[in-house]
Amino acid sequence: MDVVIKNGILVNADGKAEVDIGIEAGKIAALGKNLSGRKTIDASGKYLIPGGIDIHTHLETVFGGSQTADDFLSGHLGAIAGGTTSHINFCFPDPGQSLLATLAHWQQKVRSKSLIDYGFHLVIREESHLEELPMLLEKGVSSIKCFLAYKDTVQIDEELFFKTVEKAKEHGLLTMVHAENGNIIDYLVKKALANHFISPIFHARTRPPELESQSIHFAASVASMLKAPLYIVHVSSEKGLEEIRRAKAEGTDLWAETCPQYLLFTERDLERKGHTPNLEDFEGAKWVCSPPLRKEEDQQALWEGLRLGLIDVVSTDHCSFHFLSQKTRGLSDFSKIPNGVPGIEERMALLFHYGCKQRNLPMERFVSLTAETPAFLFGLEGQKGRLAEGYDADVVLWDPNKRQVLSVDSHHIQLDYNLYEGFAIEGGPDMVMLRGKIIYANGQFFVEQGNGNYLFRSSYKHSLNHGTKS
Ligand code: URP
Ligand code: ZN
Ligand code: ZN
Ligand code: ZN
Repeated sequence: MDVVIKNGILVNADGKAEVDIGIEAGKIAALGKNLSGRKTIDASGKYLIPGGIDIHTHLETVFGGSQTADDFLSGHLGAIAGGTTSHINFCFPDPGQSLLATLAHWQQKVRSKSLIDYGFHLVIREESHLEELPMLLEKGVSSIKCFLAYKDTVQIDEELFFKTVEKAKEHGLLTMVHAENGNIIDYLVKKALANHFISPIFHARTRPPELESQSIHFAASVASMLKAPLYIVHVSSEKGLEEIRRAKAEGTDLWAETCPQYLLFTERDLERKGHTPNLEDFEGAKWVCSPPLRKEEDQQALWEGLRLGLIDVVSTDHCSFHFLSQKTRGLSDFSKIPNGVPGIEERMALLFHYGCKQRNLPMERFVSLTAETPAFLFGLEGQKGRLAEGYDADVVLWDPNKRQVLSVDSHHIQLDYNLYEGFAIEGGPDMVMLRGKIIYANGQFFVEQGNGNYLFRSSYKHSLNHGTKS
């Protein structure tokens, strides 16, 4: 063996074991007792978990007219420092641009910057994109995304959504959906602004949870009618989750995701007061994302959903915009605040601390939510998301007692604030290995630009065992 990792507790979605990991040529070559190799790593007192997979990121993206603060390089630095070794980013075609041209453009953007492995989902914006769905699998793309919100930009209508889900199924693709009723949101926003309601809290007041649950109900009904798979991104509300519960119980091939921000903040954060001169009342803009942050009841329902397996994946929706130079576009009109929050760096540690440590979420569930189920759903099974023979040796040595105080002063992403500023948490990666190579250890990076591989993903496999993987 090239490397043997000893004395750790290996965790997969279906169980824990005290075994050595033997690594050869970037792959896991053996799991067992008393393995020997040219190099030995001692993991006493640590968990060995599969590298995190964040399947919902917006790096180096223009969204709502603003360029995200993080590009692929800074996003990947943050990902590594947090124990994430693969991610899938959304590619938005420009109006009139084909899917294949869009994909080629994004592959070119990431190539020279990449530090970790990356894949792409393509966003469906127009009818002509349907013709290209049959070509996506041969390009290694097994998932597409539809927006039912963001009227007049990326929103598509119900008919195009229906046709997309139908054709995606036919060609082995998983459809993802941002489910909120964009038409009614648009009306509520205009009405609020006409009444001079301009501050960040009105972002939440104009996007009530009913507009999420109604849209999830619609999207799930389409999936049910077509017997097609569907993945609901960033579920934020108890009402939304109720629709997930109902559809899953009826046997719809439906999968749901939430993100740390919905588990840890509420709409009250949109009313925070800050210390930046002249922006004291605008602090809440940092927490503007869509769907918006909700109430304590919603948080509780989401935690319960994670435990019960109603929610299958925790990803981040990392979409970062600087506070001073970007969020302030919406100083006198909340609807102009760029929508999005960071998370790629903190996802794993937040779920570990607030989930495993504080709410007894089993370590196996933690691994299922952050790596194995994402790999299974997005065509990476057999390669990523699990510590098993033949898989890529993406291994994280997770120290359950590592103390961290999250802060803008110590994060690795490129953003002028940290959404979790001052959060004191326990747990984090001591060492991160990607395809057998140590890329991060004891706070130091050992990786060069261009290190990441394109994730050539295989077709969505229908799962009869409904609900969570493992
Ligand atoms: O506010 C958000 N979530 N921005 C990113 C785009 C999206 O809706 O996922
Ligand atoms: Zn979205
Ligand atoms: Zn319903
Ligand atoms: Zn998103």
